[in-house]
Amino acid sequence: MKTGDLSADPIVGLSRNSYMSPAQFQHELLAIHHVSWLYGCHASEVGLPGEFVTRQVGRDDSIIIVRGEDGQVRAFANLCRHRGSRLCHEDHGHVRRLVCPYHQWRYATDGNLLSANRMRDGIDLNFADHGLVAIAAETWGGHVFICLSDPQAPLAPLLSAAAVGLSDYSPEATKVAARRCYPIAANWKLVMENFWECYHCAARHPEFSAIADVGGLEDTDFGTVTEPGAALSPVIGGALPLKPGFTSLTLDGRPACRRRFGRFQNEIAVSDPVQTTGFILRHSTAVTYFPDHGIVLDFQPRGVDQTLLVARWLVPADAVEGQDYVTENLVALWDITNIQDGVLAEGNAAGVRSSFYKPGPISRAHEPGIHEFHRFCAAALARTPALASSGSALSS
Ligand code: FES
Ligand code: FE
Repeated sequence: MKTGDLSADPIVGLSRNSYMSPAQFQHELLAIHHVSWLYGCHASEVGLPGEFVTRQVGRDDSIIIVRGEDGQVRAFANLCRHRGSRLCHEDHGHVRRLVCPYHQWRYATDGNLLSANRMRDGIDLNFADHGLVAIAAETWGGHVFICLSDPQAPLAPLLSAAAVGLSDYSPEATKVAARRCYPIAANWKLVMENFWECYHCAARHPEFSAIADVGGLEDTDFGTVTEPGAALSPVIGGALPLKPGFTSLTLDGRPACRRRFGRFQNEIAVSDPVQTTGFILRHSTAVTYFPDHGIVLDFQPRGVDQTLLVARWLVPADAVEGQDYVTENLVALWDITNIQDGVLAEGNAAGVRSSFYKPGPISRAHEPGIHEFHRFCAAALARTPALASSGSALSS
């Protein structure tokens, strides 16, 4: 069902409390982010055995994603099984063993405890019982995804169905050319609401709107509205159509990288119908590919009023910086857009904090994604009881 076919029920925004309550935030973390597949990292960031990245979830949880000696990518809670010290404080690195900085317990990159500094296996403790806490991890299309609880469903079939034509881009043969972080002083729901509508794009993203087909977005999965009551898939398509005449989402609408993904080895035809594809993980991650580069936007709630956007730009694995692409050109459009969106979300947060704030109407025609987002969150919260002390509810 497309925009404009919603039921006649009025759609209004969320309460001030739902953006400001620490208890509500904790409930959302547990009910949404701890049970959803989240973006872990790009597989090329852990390309070699021993390479790791750490990825924070919420305020308190940190996850290590590491490639083992056997080539498999695994994820673990970033804490020692002795007295719980954080193991890795760096956001990425390369290790032979994971060594706790406190009392030097040593773990293999497959999570097994190898030694415990003067404590003996089978006498002081059983090493086999004290490996790192494993977290679900799945690698697909050159990306690593994690899930902090038992996954409700495997991710790969959902991604394959959503990212139509992605195999044309040979996504496994890509690498991260740039990674930038954007701290946003706003509740994560305000950041995601801003992501889910392009009502603001024409006025507030002149660079983006000059190249992207902002009107055409509403004809993609991005603008699709499901039947009231229907289950919302955790993954949808993430194509980002361009205006006629443009071949990449850059400041000038032309490729920023001379190398091309997959089948786009030759000059890109302006009439080529498959110039963009991608997927969106509700409600944390958007991955979009153009023939010369890709963009990953990973929205991470960090506190009731703090969100971190981590952006990664992908290029073909054999592209060379300075020869095939210039990083500043590659990142320019999304860097500007991400900063603009951060300002908008922070301005929204400032208004919502006011005691005069009241939820306003959400447009059926121009903000259907916000309605879907709220519906998804409300269903998730209803499935997962709040902690006894939180008493939270996603109220309108
Ligand atoms: Fe890690 Fe003691 S807390 S070795
Ligand atoms: Fe925006």
